[in-house]
Amino acid sequence: MTKVIDGRRIAKEINESLKARVENFINEYKITPKLAVVMAGGDPASLFYVKMIAKSCERASIDFEKHSLPSETTEEELLKLIENLNKHKKVSGIIVQVPLPKHINQERIQEAVNPCKDVDCFNPINMGRLALGKPEFLPCTPYAVYELMKRENIVVEGKHTVIVGRSNIVGRPMALILLQKKQYANATLTICHSRTNDLSYFTRQADILIAAVGKPEIIKRDMVKEGAIIIDVGTNEVGGKLVGDVAYEEVLDKASIITPVPGGVGPITNVMLMQNTLKAAGNLVVSE
Ligand SMILES: NC(=O)c1ccc[n+]([C@@H]2O[C@H](COP(=O)([O-])OP(=O)(O)OC[C@H]3O[C@@H](n4cnc5c(N)ncnc54)[C@H](OP(=O)(O)O)[C@@H]3O)[C@@H](O)[C@H]2O)c1
Repeated sequence: MTKVIDGRRIAKEINESLKARVENFINEYKITPKLAVVMAGGDPASLFYVKMIAKSCERASIDFEKHSLPSETTEEELLKLIENLNKHKKVSGIIVQVPLPKHINQERIQEAVNPCKDVDCFNPINMGRLALGKPEFLPCTPYAVYELMKRENIVVEGKHTVIVGRSNIVGRPMALILLQKKQYANATLTICHSRTNDLSYFTRQADILIAAVGKPEIIKRDMVKEGAIIIDVGTNEVGGKLVGDVAYEEVLDKASIITPVPGGVGPITNVMLMQNTLKAAGNLVVSE
C-alpha cells in the first residue's frame, strides 16, 4: 500500500510548534521577528506568492512588511532599499522576490542582502556555507523536502538518491543538504539535468527519487523502481490545474511513499521561510 504524504498536515504541525517558539521569543526579547519582502514590477505570480507569504507570517505570529516598487525602479534605488533594510534593527529577514525587471541585475541585488538576514539563502556566502557543510540557512524548498523526510522518517543513508534538476533554488542545494554528514542526510547521490543521456537509466536505479524539473509529468511509470520513495517538487500549471513532475496516477501504486502535487512539498516551503526568519531574528539578538 503506497503511503501518500500529506504536506498540509506536516506544514500545520511545523507551524504550530514554530508559532509557540516565536511567541516565546517575543516574550523573552520583546522583539517580534519581521520579514521584509521586496518586489519590483507587478509580476502576477509574484503578487500571488507574496500574498501567501503574508498569510504564512500571520499564521506564525511574524511581522510582515512589503516593499512594492514600480517596474521602472533603478538598480541603485533597489540597492539603497536593501542597504536600509540590512541596517534596520526591526527587520530580521529579507527576501527579494524574483523575477526583477530586466534592467536590474538580479545577482547583484541578491548579493547585497546581509547574509545574516538572507532567509531565502540566495547570497553566495550562505550557499558557500551550505556547500562546505556548515549552513547558516537552508533554501526553503529543499529545506521543506528535508524536513518532510525527517518527519516521515525517510532515511537517506545507505540508499541511492537520484535528484532530477540542478537549479540553484532546488536541485543543487537539495544535493548539498543531503550530502551533509548528519542524521537524515549522508546521501549517496546521482544528480540528473537536461544534458543527462538516458534519464530513465538513472531514475530506475533510485531508491529515493526527487524530481525538481518543471516539466509536467516527465517522470513516467516505467522510469521508477518498484517500491521507490518519490518526492515531487515540480509545480506546473496545465489547463488551470497544478501538476507535478511525476505522472502521479500511473506511478502511485509502484511507489512505497509519494508526495502529491498539490499538497506535498509546496505547503511546507513557506513554513520553512518562517523558520528561517525566526532563526535570523535570533542571530540579530546574539550579535547585539
Ligand atoms: N514546491 C515548491 O515550493 C517549489 C519551489 C520552487 C520551485 N518549485 C518547482 O520545482 C520545479 C523546478 O524548479 P526550478 O526553479 O529548480 O526550475 P529550473 O531552474 O528551471 O531548473 C530545472 C532543472 O531541471 C533540469 N531539466 C530540465 N529539463 C530536463 C529534462 N528533460 N531532463 C532532466 N532534467 C531536466 C534543468 O537542467 P539544466 O540545469 O541542464 O537546465 C534544471 O537543472 C518547477 O516546477 C518549480 O515550479 C516548487
